Amino acid sequence: MGCTDSVSPFCQLPTDKWQWHPSPLAGQIVYVTTRSDAGEVNLAPKSWVSMAAFHGPIIGFGCSRQHQTYTNATATGMFTINFPTAEQAGRAAQVADAPREFRLRASGLSLDGVRTSGVPHLRECPAYMECHLVKSVEFDGGETFLFGKIDVIAIHRELSSLPIEEAYARLAPAFFCEPGVIGELRPLTTTTIR
Ligand SMILES: Cc1cc2nc3c(=O)[nH]c(=O)nc-3n(C[C@H](O)[C@H](O)[C@H](O)COP(=O)(O)O)c2cc1C
Repeated sequence: MGCTDSVSPFCQLPTDKWQWHPSPLAGQIVYVTTRSDAGEVNLAPKSWVSMAAFHGPIIGFGCSRQHQTYTNATATGMFTINFPTAEQAGRAAQVADAPREFRLRASGLSLDGVRTSGVPHLRECPAYMECHLVKSVEFDGGETFLFGKIDVIAIHRELSSLPIEEAYARLAPAFFCEPGVIGELRPLTTTTIR
């Protein structure tokens, strides 16, 4: 184990995720909005997020069961995933650390849809998905993966008519690599995968 064996082209990392330097798996940074039973909106950055199935379609994200996001999503059965640009995601650490009532201010973003019964989204983020919870998978250590059916997916109107490279440049997603390291997308060429 480790990097002392100079014969192998690989160097084994500890299985402890916190020790992955660098981590070969980056997670797209999203802002998850939820509502409590009492209707209060909560905002938290998450990055262990992935599409899970075409049929639904289903998206999932990893979340501690101690988090308000988990409490709200399981209580109401709803969550909204907002897709910030790299610039907007640059504040994710401050947002996560801020007291709940100051998180929106820390993000520099604003809520849209507060008056509806659903979960509001972030107006300035170029895209969002409104989801309802369909399944949660619990893991040891108080972690869980929440799966939601995407009921609504919306992007800023001007993105839909841009050339594809420009559209991705405007989406400009950011990726959590390891504490203190955020990566950005660099689209190269487009190929069709089916
Ligand atoms: C860039 C970034 C990515 C994060 N990704 C996750 C994640 O994927 N899952 C998770 O449970 N917490 C993640 N966190 C930590 C939560 O955002 C943080 O613990 C937050 O305070 C939880 O808020 P909540 O209790 O309102 O859900 C991340 C934090 C940052 C800054």
